[in-house]
Amino acid sequence: MQENAIAIIGVGYVGLPLALSLAKFHPKVLGYDIDNERVSELNSGFDRNNNLKNVIPSNLEFTVDLARIERATTYIITVPTPIDEKRLPDLNPLKHACSDVAQVISRGDLIIVESTVYPGVTEDVCGPLIQEKSGLKQGKDFFLGYSPERINPGDDKNTLEAVVKVIAAQDDKIMDRVKKIYEPVVKAGLFAASSIQTAEASKIVENIQRDLNVALMNELAIIFDKMNIRTADVLEAAGTKWNFQKFTPGLVGGHCIGVDPYYLISKAEALGYYPELIRAARRLNNSLADYVSQKTIDLLAISGVSVVDSRIGVLGMTFKENVSDLRNSQSPVIVNELKKYGGKVFAHDPYISESSFLESHGIDLTSWHDLRDLDAVLVIVPHDFYTRENREAIFEAIKMDGIFIDVKSAFERTLLLGEQKYWSL
Ligand SMILES: NC(=O)c1ccc[n+]([C@@H]2O[C@H](COP(=O)([O-])OP(=O)(O)OC[C@H]3O[C@@H](n4cnc5c(N)ncnc54)[C@H](O)[C@@H]3O)[C@@H](O)[C@H]2O)c1
Repeated sequence: MQENAIAIIGVGYVGLPLALSLAKFHPKVLGYDIDNERVSELNSGFDRNNNLKNVIPSNLEFTVDLARIERATTYIITVPTPIDEKRLPDLNPLKHACSDVAQVISRGDLIIVESTVYPGVTEDVCGPLIQEKSGLKQGKDFFLGYSPERINPGDDKNTLEAVVKVIAAQDDKIMDRVKKIYEPVVKAGLFAASSIQTAEASKIVENIQRDLNVALMNELAIIFDKMNIRTADVLEAAGTKWNFQKFTPGLVGGHCIGVDPYYLISKAEALGYYPELIRAARRLNNSLADYVSQKTIDLLAISGVSVVDSRIGVLGMTFKENVSDLRNSQSPVIVNELKKYGGKVFAHDPYISESSFLESHGIDLTSWHDLRDLDAVLVIVPHDFYTRENREAIFEAIKMDGIFIDVKSAFERTLLLGEQKYWSL
């Protein structure tokens, strides 16, 4: 018997840290996942996402067995909400999780969704599905809450405990229950949203705002490139104004910023509104990988090197700095594009395993010491490994008249050796 246990459905990037934090304050936490391998890894104390800093506490158990979570009274759903190949919301993992929860809930149980969704999904998709599959009545026999996740993998400062958490519930009574779950964990405090839909919308808006701002920087970078002005220098100057917002150009990948806007786009279009600005930002950010590839080819040609004979190093395969997360990363797009034009491309990333990258992306990784005599090097993701540990060594891997492409302007031009040329977004 595990009375008052909390079950986390899906123990990935979001679910695992949440389970670990809740286990510090609640008597029993159960981490349920459909991935057998993931659960056995966690039970042996290994987290492939590197979010496990301490030993797993004895009141936290991971399982693939649905029956083990039957005794929970609160279920928190943290499963993926991806897009499909047409860039439409794929709610299948969430629906699957709701169907599983419906099989094990009892009268009085609380279900909180944490997965990122468009406004309405918790109450109009999850609730009715759980009701249908469980035979219990939404709002009478079981209750709904929503709390968006603001976790930022690789960021030790803005943790679950340290950032205000938005919570929402179907009514005030349930809000008190939701508060009791999160209050002990989130030291920064909770923000009670006026409705579940408001909380769902707030999460999407956070990511859309970022997507739009990065798109603006990318557009400016393309314009300034045509004028031979370095965007980083422009932004440094503009950034001295008190109300200038600090965003930088770059490739947008990952599971949030490059995905969540499509959730709101699809909902808006279903309501007959075509969101031009949000779509334009997505289009622009999606086109950046091609822009950087084309730029590399142009710079090689200007230097008198044909792509077919060139040796190109592409550094940083993950979607952002200092994490091992490859989801929707744009770096493999650049590797494949340069290969398509006949370049000999050497891909490198210190955070990922060669075999799993080959399996997932069909790209061979090169070891650090084999990067040499390169016509061009692109630092796509400036991991600390490049910017701190090997800041100078990178330039030794490039030919003395080669090209250094500093996508995120993370290096100074003074580091160039010989006749090496510099370009950044
Ligand atoms: N990763 C982040 O930084 C982040 C930040 C904020 C919000 N989110 C959102 O949180 C949600 C989860 O994202 P994530 O990054 O943790 O995903 P993830 O892929 O790291 O983890 C999800 C886990 O859920 C499991 N799973 C899939 N279907 C399941 C099911 N039906 N039942 C049980 N387990 C199931 C998977 O096996 C996986 O272990 C998404 O909606 C995402 O948009 C993620």
